[in-house]
Amino acid sequence: MDYELNKSQIPAHIAIIMDGNGRWAMQRGLPRTAGHVEGVANVRYITELCTNLGVKFLTLYTFSTENWNRPQDEVMAIMDLLVDNMDLDLFMRNNVRFRMIGGIDRLSPAVQACVRELEEKTKNNSRMTAVIALNYSSRWELTQTMKEAVREAAEGRLLPDEVTEEYISSHLQTKFMPDPDLLIRTGGELRISNYLLWQCAYSEFYFCDTYWPDFHEEDLHRAIATYQQRQRRFGLTEAQVENTNTTEN
Ligand code: IPE
Ligand code: IPE
Ligand code: MG
Repeated sequence: MDYELNKSQIPAHIAIIMDGNGRWAMQRGLPRTAGHVEGVANVRYITELCTNLGVKFLTLYTFSTENWNRPQDEVMAIMDLLVDNMDLDLFMRNNVRFRMIGGIDRLSPAVQACVRELEEKTKNNSRMTAVIALNYSSRWELTQTMKEAVREAAEGRLLPDEVTEEYISSHLQTKFMPDPDLLIRTGGELRISNYLLWQCAYSEFYFCDTYWPDFHEEDLHRAIATYQQRQRRFGLTEAQVENTNTTEN
């Protein structure tokens, strides 16, 4: 089935929790790492689809700070896949800027080099920004921000009243982009797993059972179509929102 998308209402920022690689593989009698291989292939495919739809920011949860506690061979396989798939050509061909959020220091020198090179070479691309959250978790990010604030305060550069929502937003890893409009989680779990807690305050959530390697164009369109049917109220009443929309049009 195809979903009618309103082209003028494409979410500017889509964040995805790409979950279900391991179960996708186990279901087929394959090792979990085979699911990650398929998962990476799907990242490329979904990145291109989002670019063509006019999405401006796509933020992909790739590896959480908690994922380090998985079996070491799985962790290594994921890291190797990252190095092998940071495809400059894909980003240049689609005019996509690449960014990473998360702690770069804990990554291997090879991964760090790939990330830095890709960020540098794609920095002037303007059609979409693809962000990977790598060695990322929201509590880690918020803790970093608080440390920074305390440091600034200790040096006399920050007063209590200067700690505003804007201050916090502009010190998070995500400071270069707007908050997600739509958060998609594949793989059937109904949780946020330490992802973009601050930024998702008013995001629309879409959960689906499909495992990430099977999340294809139709699923993406269904997620966006569902988003387009929602009314975002940001604390206002339905009538207030309708009134604002009528005045704007
Ligand atoms: C998501 O898939 C990818 C990562 C967390 C790296 P999983 O590997 O979590 O797959 P499941 O949830 O075990 O099926
Ligand atoms: C979240 O998936 C992290 C990524 C998709 C990278 P997990 O599979 O790690 O989350 P939990 O453990 O099911 O909450
Ligand atoms: Mg999982």
